[in-house]
Amino acid sequence: MELFSLKNRTALVTGACGLIGKKHCEALAEAGANVVLLDVNEKQCREQAAALGAGHMGIEVDVTRPESLIAARDKIVAHYRKIDILVNNAAINDMFENPLLAGKQSMFEHYPLEMWDRSWQVNVTGVFLCSQIFGTPMSEQGSGSIINIASTYGIVGPDQSIYIKTKTGSITFTNPRLIRQQKEPSSTLPVFWLLIGVIKE
Ligand SMILES: NC(=O)c1ccc[n+]([C@@H]2O[C@H](COP(=O)([O-])OP(=O)(O)OC[C@H]3O[C@@H](n4cnc5c(N)ncnc54)[C@H](O)[C@@H]3O)[C@@H](O)[C@H]2O)c1
Repeated sequence: MELFSLKNRTALVTGACGLIGKKHCEALAEAGANVVLLDVNEKQCREQAAALGAGHMGIEVDVTRPESLIAARDKIVAHYRKIDILVNNAAINDMFENPLLAGKQSMFEHYPLEMWDRSWQVNVTGVFLCSQIFGTPMSEQGSGSIINIASTYGIVGPDQSIYIKTKTGSITFTNPRLIRQQKEPSSTLPVFWLLIGVIKE
């Protein structure tokens, strides 16, 4: 007897080529879903989709650019006819190009504005845009689930990192009444968050 199956479900994972994104994709594929891997590198997305087996797809997207997400959504709906699951996993952590400057730049007093803006764009605006753009077909079809990948750092931040503040943003974004079903506006789509501790390769 099959206790759990995602057969014939279309599952989207943003940041699919990263450390944890890969694992989400493997788990969804193992459960029978058709997985769509969304990340910034087209070649990597396609190769990882092929490595999962038949029925999966890799598409290059930038979660901060609506036109890129709309193009991906249209391609996915044309191919699979529906979207059932969205895992909002893409995020960036505070990283500094020059390790010699990292100590100083990561201090709150010196934190670069561009890095602050980029972190909010990817980690919070990206969640908003993906939920809106991929959530629309779910709302139309009256079913679907959104899972936001949160972090324990979003609740108990050990330092002044901006990453922590953005992950708090993605948690507060997880609102069960976020997306209404178009045919039945009193019903909403489920939005969950998955809280993850520190994971390293
Ligand atoms: N690794 C951890 O210890 C840990 C702990 C708690 C929560 N998390 C959360 O898990 C998720 C994945 O983290 P990870 O450790 O796998 O990170 P990672 O850096 O390995 O992967 C992130 C992925 O997001 C992609 N990405 C970045 N900007 C993008 C954009 N604009 N558009 C599309 N894709 C983009 C990157 O290319 C990368 O593949 C994140 O939401 C993170 O906050 C991670």
